[in-house]
Amino acid sequence: MISKIFAGVLLSLAITFALKAQTFEIPDTTYQLPPLLKSQSGKAILTAKDWEKNRRREILSLFANNVYGKTPSKKLPLRFEVLEVSPSALYGTATRKQVRVYFSNDEKYYMDILMYLPNNTDKPVPLFLGLNFGGNQAINADHGILVSKRWFRYDKSKGYSNHYATEASRGTDAAAWPVEEIIKRGYGLATVYYGDLQPDSSNSANGGIAPLFYKKGQTMPVPDEWGAIGVWAWGLSRAMDYLQTDHAVNAKKIAVIGHSRLGKTALWAGAQDKRFAFVISNDSGEGGAAITRRKYGETITKINTAFPHWFCNNYKSYNDREDELPVDYHELIALIAPRPVYVASASEDQWADPTGEYLSAWHAGEVYKLYGLAGLTNITPPSINTPVGNGSIGYHLREGVHAMTYYDWQQYLNFADRELK
Ligand code: GCU
Repeated sequence: MISKIFAGVLLSLAITFALKAQTFEIPDTTYQLPPLLKSQSGKAILTAKDWEKNRRREILSLFANNVYGKTPSKKLPLRFEVLEVSPSALYGTATRKQVRVYFSNDEKYYMDILMYLPNNTDKPVPLFLGLNFGGNQAINADHGILVSKRWFRYDKSKGYSNHYATEASRGTDAAAWPVEEIIKRGYGLATVYYGDLQPDSSNSANGGIAPLFYKKGQTMPVPDEWGAIGVWAWGLSRAMDYLQTDHAVNAKKIAVIGHSRLGKTALWAGAQDKRFAFVISNDSGEGGAAITRRKYGETITKINTAFPHWFCNNYKSYNDREDELPVDYHELIALIAPRPVYVASASEDQWADPTGEYLSAWHAGEVYKLYGLAGLTNITPPSINTPVGNGSIGYHLREGVHAMTYYDWQQYLNFADRELK
């Protein structure tokens, strides 16, 4: 009798608990996630339609209000100016195009898109779009690329002097952008220096486009207004606005890609803007793909302390309170469903929590399944250099350090061949 009552109590406790949170025991941590498929009012989400109508919107606004800040809906008067076209770039294999996107009529605010498109086809091409860290001129040694005149975080790195780029910065980040290979595989590449949108600095005096959205007299974002990641993600959508007008590009097959802080940005851009057909997060870590409730490697306090300008100010209220954040990052990935998504980690990049990055991608599969897509099949992360995923979610753990490498790109190209082409 007593044992029956005891079993009953245990069962009801278990049910209550299961409805509140899901607990997962993974080799190095135990964590509880907010349930992905239950609305805040407690309604179970059982179909893709339910997900899109209710839960997806709810999660999107939770991320906007608590993490990245709200993206303003105000439309700016965009104008595109083709600055330069060279049909015989990269030894004749590609056309290089540089396009300036103006955000204001006074032409004070703008970003420059650098594009390479393969020459061996007349058809609109699928394309990878990503922000870069070193200025457009850093992604390839091609002397036709305009050297950025913006402010950089780098002061004494090779090719940068006192926060400005010099001629010597040309091609310094070419290892992260294997343009020749991308072209050879039949894809285009478009890239923008992230500092065209907002300097990566907590000193807002360094510029940026945010003031275009300020109310009269405003000088700083209010607590739920966007941080730099939000601004950068907005810029990716404005690049998409241009790409939709370019007949050489297949705008229905654009992948958005980013490394590290720009991987967080790519995920947030892909989550908000369904025009991105494929989303790639390279070593994005905390505030990107990694499950924050694991508190492994970088944490909310650490990121908000070192980079107070990346997220909205509300995010700071979750310092040391990961478990109270109403979302976790598997839900960011789930927002991309049913579009293909790829998460990649590097074995020596423990700061970004490779296991947590994998687990996010795995948990997001719950939503992909609503669309009849398989997601990742195994909760245990794969071994080093063993890419996994056929069911619209891809993942690999590359051997080595925090970087975006040729190996990473090969996996993205292979996945795009299967999922996008
Ligand atoms: C730091 C930061 C990370 C970020 C990385 C990067 O390491 O802590 O969150 O991803 O910089 O952008 O390179």
